[in-house]
Formats: sequence, structure tokens, C-alpha cells
Amino acid sequence: HSVGIIGAPFSRGQRKDGVEKGPDYIRTAGLTEKLQAQGCQVKDYGNLKLDDVPNDEPFRKVRMPKTVGLANQHLADAVHTVKKEGRACVVLGGDHSLAIGSILGHARSQRDLCLVWVDAHADINTPLTSPTGNVHGQPVSYLLKELQSKIPVMPGFSWIKPCITAKDIVYIGLRDLDPEEHYIVKNLGIKSFSMTELDRFGMGRVMEETCDHLFSKVNRPIHLSYDIDALDPLVAPATGTPAIGGLTYREGIYVAEEICKTGLLSAVDLVEVNPSRGKTEEEVRSTVNAAVSVVLSCFGKAREGSHPINYQLP
Ligand code: ARG
Ligand code: MN
Ligand code: MN
Ligand code: MN
Repeated sequence: HSVGIIGAPFSRGQRKDGVEKGPDYIRTAGLTEKLQAQGCQVKDYGNLKLDDVPNDEPFRKVRMPKTVGLANQHLADAVHTVKKEGRACVVLGGDHSLAIGSILGHARSQRDLCLVWVDAHADINTPLTSPTGNVHGQPVSYLLKELQSKIPVMPGFSWIKPCITAKDIVYIGLRDLDPEEHYIVKNLGIKSFSMTELDRFGMGRVMEETCDHLFSKVNRPIHLSYDIDALDPLVAPATGTPAIGGLTYREGIYVAEEICKTGLLSAVDLVEVNPSRGKTEEEVRSTVNAAVSVVLSCFGKAREGSHPINYQLP
């Protein structure tokens, strides 16, 4: 695998400080070295410089629209560059509002991409349904063609053109949706494996059905948007909006292993790691290590073990 890493130290899609430290904590845990050790060719593009835009008043309830819009514009350009250079793109967040720029930048070179959204949350509030005004709870709404009539013109967001349709998305791990979000998911018929379906079918069948759904006609590039809060807070407590009853470490890794095995993984977001939300050093360590492990599994690490293709016994 050839992998390009972009750090996106951005926190303005929500209210809690610390999530901008995610990229550096994940790097310090050895992401690049570990990817190289498993045979990946890695280029680290460094951290984006994402500044606050002055006089960024809320639009209705939406907080910091110009700042969020501009940060995502920079990220979209960076992701596009990584894809043009022929690499799988890894975006280290930062909060989940970054999915807007990551997916739009990806779609510039991969027009037929599909989206696997692993999260406790659906992040599909529109600016008008959002109970919090935080854009990290809204990114999917800006990307969906079916919702465009419901998205008002907003400062900082005029460059955004929706690039995916409802049938191109699969949700995995949902357990904390606002009523308006549940209405949207059901109304648009988005394929969704909530924790209830996970309990019913198990992760094995969920991943089979995910691939059946996305690749029924043709194989296409995958954008994996992985919110660390999909994992249970026992595994990944250092995050801004933890939700009890989540994926086990094993389930979280299994998703990544299966996505890797498709050979279609084209871009990954690993978001919402917030080192400041860990109550102890151990909580931070556990969360960051889980994030690193997910990315390693996305790019070839397999629990069954592996060996070089041309290996010969001595
Ligand atoms: N649904 C809530 C909201 O709209 C929470 C979203 C949490 N999103 C996240 N990326 N952690 O604000
Ligand atoms: Mn979430
Ligand atoms: Mn999310
Ligand atoms: Mn692979």
C-alpha cells in the first residue's frame, strides 16, 4: 500500500478543546513507522494550517461557518493532491466536520466513490435540524444530493457541491441519533447497521451485507470515515461525545480488516480523538492506540498474521 497522511488539527466543528491535538498524538504513537514496518510506503504531508476566520458569527444556530468552510476547503485541496499522487489518503482529525472537505476532495478524483461511515452518530443533521449548531453533527447533510433543497446558503459553504447519493452510504455502529436524523436516514433509505443490527447479525454478516450493498453493480473506491466514538468508551474514552454500548475493540478492528480485504480502500478519516477528554494517561493511551490499530488494519495488518509473498523457509 502507498499511503499519504494529512494532519487536520481542527476543533471548530464542535465546542470542546483538545481534538486539534489528535493528529500529533496519533503520530507520536508511531503510526508512520508501524505502517512502514508492515510494508507500506508512507508520505506524511504534515499538518494543515487551519486558522480561525475573524468576525465569524453564527448562521442561525450553526457555529463558526466561515472557519469550518475554509478549513474544509484547504483539506479538500490537500486530499485531492494525495489522490493525484496515487496514494491512499489518511486524514487524521480533528473533529468530524472535516469529513466534508475530505470526501469532497476525494470525490474530485474518484467520482464513483462510496462511503462507509463508522460512528455512534449519523452526523446528518441539516443546519436547520441541528440541536447543537455543531457542524461535526452535520457533515453528511452537505454531501448528500437528496438533501440539497434543505440546505440554506451559508457563509463559507458556497463552494460545497454535494457528491454522493443516499444509496452510496452505509452506516455502522449507530446508537445516538437525534429524531430529525433518524427521520432523514429512514426517509432516504440509507443502509444502516445500528448497534441493534450488530447485536442481531454480528459484525461478520454486517460487513458482508455492507459490501453486497455497495458493490452490487460494480466495484468502486471506498471512503471510510471512522469516528473513534464508534468504539465503546471502555476502549476509546478520550473523545468529545462518548456513547455507551459501542463496538468492541475486536469489532472495530474487524471493520478495518474487511475494508482492507476488498482492495478498494481509497481514503480514510480517523476523527474525534481528543486527548484532553481522557481522565487518565491510560485513557488517552488506549484511545490513541485504538486509532492507530484501526489505521494499521486498514492497510494490511491482519490478526491471522502475514508474511512476504516471496518468503522461503531457511
Ligand atoms: N447529534 C449531535 C449533534 O448534532 C451529536 C453529534 C456528534 N458528532 C460527532 N461527530 N461526534 O450535535
Ligand atoms: Mn460520533
Ligand atoms: Mn462523527
Ligand atoms: Mn490490503
